[in-house]
Amino acid sequence: MMKEEVLEKIILETVDIPSLPPIAMKVLQLINDDYSSIKELEKLIGRDQSFSARLLRIANSPYYGRDRSIDTISTGILLIGFNTMKSLVVAASLKDLHRKFGLFEQRLWEHSLGVSIAASLLAIETKLMTPEEAMIGGLIHDVGKTILNNSMPESYSVIVERVYEAGQPFLDVENEMLGFNHCHVGGLISRKWKLPKNLESVTEFHHATDFSGMEDPSHVNLCKVVNVADAMCAVLGIGLRAPLEGYVVNYASIGLSSGRFAELEETFKKTYAEQKAHLLE
Ligand SMILES: [Fe+2]
Ligand SMILES: [Fe+2]
Repeated sequence: MMKEEVLEKIILETVDIPSLPPIAMKVLQLINDDYSSIKELEKLIGRDQSFSARLLRIANSPYYGRDRSIDTISTGILLIGFNTMKSLVVAASLKDLHRKFGLFEQRLWEHSLGVSIAASLLAIETKLMTPEEAMIGGLIHDVGKTILNNSMPESYSVIVERVYEAGQPFLDVENEMLGFNHCHVGGLISRKWKLPKNLESVTEFHHATDFSGMEDPSHVNLCKVVNVADAMCAVLGIGLRAPLEGYVVNYASIGLSSGRFAELEETFKKTYAEQKAHLLE
């Protein structure tokens, strides 16, 4: 067996891999069906009030850097397209994936929102991708942590403690204590859910530094942008109990100077403070 296969086997034996939240599954089925209409989609999403509210809130986030207002699912589809809508549906359903919603889960959701806002700002600045793609990448990047936390809450809280006490990155503590990490789990679950390839790449490789095995340069860019956004949130302590040590913000990897990065960091702090309450509802 190849190394990855062995690893997948170990993960599958230890971690309970859930299915996609039912609302997302139904919506994706409907989107994939050529004969379905926007009206049907709207009806289906509208049946779940909190989900449709969340979806519209994310779709309307002013950090897209453009002026628009999406008040119905159908306008949303017209404005952002079916493909982006598909990913958005997955991203908006992530909150429902949590087994319970305590303090850690709240923070993880905040962290994902923080990274999604930072990533869209970086996308607007660098023009490496659309802000929508960056936003969805940010929302979904740490889905592996959600799965691990649901599956082994006791061990995962020990891991979280160690991260803060020893000032070590999540990845290192997870590798040490489990033999695998949230990126391995993220990749596995993306394949199981048949997520678009760009989202699979970002859940698996947002902490990577070597991209020689990745063929599509747009996926490499997404990983790099989310990596910088993640590090920005880590050093600012966004969605975390405290700022994390040992994070290098690799802004040069996406072509930013330190001066420009510092300015963007200020914009981000302001945007996040304004957006937080609106998005966290
Ligand atoms: Fe991560
Ligand atoms: Fe993260």
